[in-house]
Amino acid sequence: MADRATIVTGASSGIGLAIAQMLGEEGYGVTMSARRPEKLEAAVAQLQGEGLDVHGVPANVADEEEIRAVIAAHRERYGRLDVLVNNAGVGVGALLGDIQSKRLDMQLEVNIRSIVIFYRECLELLQQAAAEHHNALVVNTSSISGKRGEAWLSVYSATKHAVVGWTEAMNKELATQGIKSTALCPAFVDTAMTDFIKEHVKAEEMIRPQDIAESVRFLLRTSPACVVPEIMFVRPGDSL
Ligand SMILES: NC(=O)c1ccc[n+]([C@@H]2O[C@H](COP(=O)([O-])OP(=O)(O)OC[C@H]3O[C@@H](n4cnc5c(N)ncnc54)[C@H](OP(=O)(O)O)[C@@H]3O)[C@@H](O)[C@H]2O)c1
Repeated sequence: MADRATIVTGASSGIGLAIAQMLGEEGYGVTMSARRPEKLEAAVAQLQGEGLDVHGVPANVADEEEIRAVIAAHRERYGRLDVLVNNAGVGVGALLGDIQSKRLDMQLEVNIRSIVIFYRECLELLQQAAAEHHNALVVNTSSISGKRGEAWLSVYSATKHAVVGWTEAMNKELATQGIKSTALCPAFVDTAMTDFIKEHVKAEEMIRPQDIAESVRFLLRTSPACVVPEIMFVRPGDSL
């Protein structure tokens, strides 16, 4: 049984997969979750093939019951939660006049509502970890669009700003109890999400998913006295 355990959402590819791999390497028992079961199974098999203690629980984080099922499966397998990584996210570009309500709701549900529910439903487990070592951690993947509004990505930007605000609020509520929160705010990262722009911005000029995972490795090593509210990742020449 692992001494420490974590849940990572959006763990079947990109940033979430890199963070899950890093946490597995650090000795964590990892519950990997994502929406599409086959893609998740392949990611889980990859990390198990590297000898890591990971398992997969497919879930659509827009569905509250499915979130509860992820946490229940995690609790049953590991019995503890030291690090929660709220990473699942979606972005749908549209100019104001073209915003479809269904896509608006989906981005709100996946990018911010699910994070609120994950915190609430994981609170007891996080408090138990904090009572033991005073260093429970929640990492929320925001975006550089959570720091500056982006045309065409206005809804995505708004949800990612909400993630930064939520993280700040959670630090005010929970950090003195030993539950620290960090918002990750990257510019373009080379994942499936940025395929739409790779004709204009080369993949090799994008931030690597492993760069983001390394920042979480750093967070694991901070003392209980140190809260890191957010980390921004930009590319050379990016304006802030
Ligand atoms: N790539 C970038 O440039 C960039 C920059 C800033 C922030 N981010 C953020 O980073 C996070 C990870 O994105 P990524 O770049 O790594 O893209 P990605 O490779 O497309 O990964 C997205 C992950 O989220 C999962 N997901 C999507 N909708 C879901 C839902 N409704 N329920 C559960 N899981 C769901 C996906 O699973 P399925 O494929 O099965 O749906 C996948 O595992 C997102 O929050 C994104 O907004 C990305």
